[in-house]
Amino acid sequence: MKNTVLTFKQAKEKGEKLTMLTAYDYSTAKLIDEAGINSILIGDSLGNVILGYEDTISVTMEDMIHHSAAVARGAKNALVVCDMPFMSYQTNVYDAVVNAGRLMKEGRAGAVKLEGGEEVIEQVRAIVNCGIPVCGHLGLTPQSINAFGGFKVQAKTEAAAKKLINDAKLLEEAGAFAVVLECVPAKIAEIVTKELSIPTIGIGAGNVCDGQVLVYQDMLGMFSDFTPKFVKRFADIGDIMKEAFMNYDKEVKAGTFPEKKHEYTISDDVLEKLY
Ligand code: KIV
Repeated sequence: MKNTVLTFKQAKEKGEKLTMLTAYDYSTAKLIDEAGINSILIGDSLGNVILGYEDTISVTMEDMIHHSAAVARGAKNALVVCDMPFMSYQTNVYDAVVNAGRLMKEGRAGAVKLEGGEEVIEQVRAIVNCGIPVCGHLGLTPQSINAFGGFKVQAKTEAAAKKLINDAKLLEEAGAFAVVLECVPAKIAEIVTKELSIPTIGIGAGNVCDGQVLVYQDMLGMFSDFTPKFVKRFADIGDIMKEAFMNYDKEVKAGTFPEKKHEYTISDDVLEKLY
């Protein structure tokens, strides 16, 4: 069944958990979609896991559109949510609306996600008013990594926790259909989840959130540059891939691959005329 923002609303009302995974290409999106995951996020974590940057700062609109369109072609039922990259919405409301529109028109996303609360609330309101669903993102917002001074758990002080709770309420009032909570104490995520009527999607925010999201390379053991505490490895595909690459290398160099069964044939009549 096709997942939409209504699926998210109904899941919250019924107390049913939601699942979201990142994807950046057609074949992975297809596998995730076929597995029945509710939503696929083209995260700007693309910068880390696909493009090899240290952070998400350099990711561009063109990067996001390119990968979003590929994912959208593979996602039949999952709700496709595309991250708005750094500086595509923080500048002003006009930029935010135009760029959110491009992610939908050119990237074929069903919704956009952006980081921040009060400081971007006018942007959220304006994008929602254009008929583009918005998912918020609070807590550890990687586009602000330079302001945070590193990847750190957020909302640990009274003031920071109060701001996060208030930001979440503002996002709901502005029309966001869901809020991602990243790297916040589970008890704070619990307060937000109880106070909002839209679903919270946690990543490093405990089990009480209405749903969970993970970067697929993290949960499959395919990315080892850094592994946050909140990641669970559901498989070690990285090791399996490496072993397959090594076997391929060995067989080609030993002359055992390709075998006869991998060859194409040609009739002797044609062949004879070539000599
Ligand atoms: O960019 C991303 O992958 C994300 C998730 C970690 C939520 O924003």
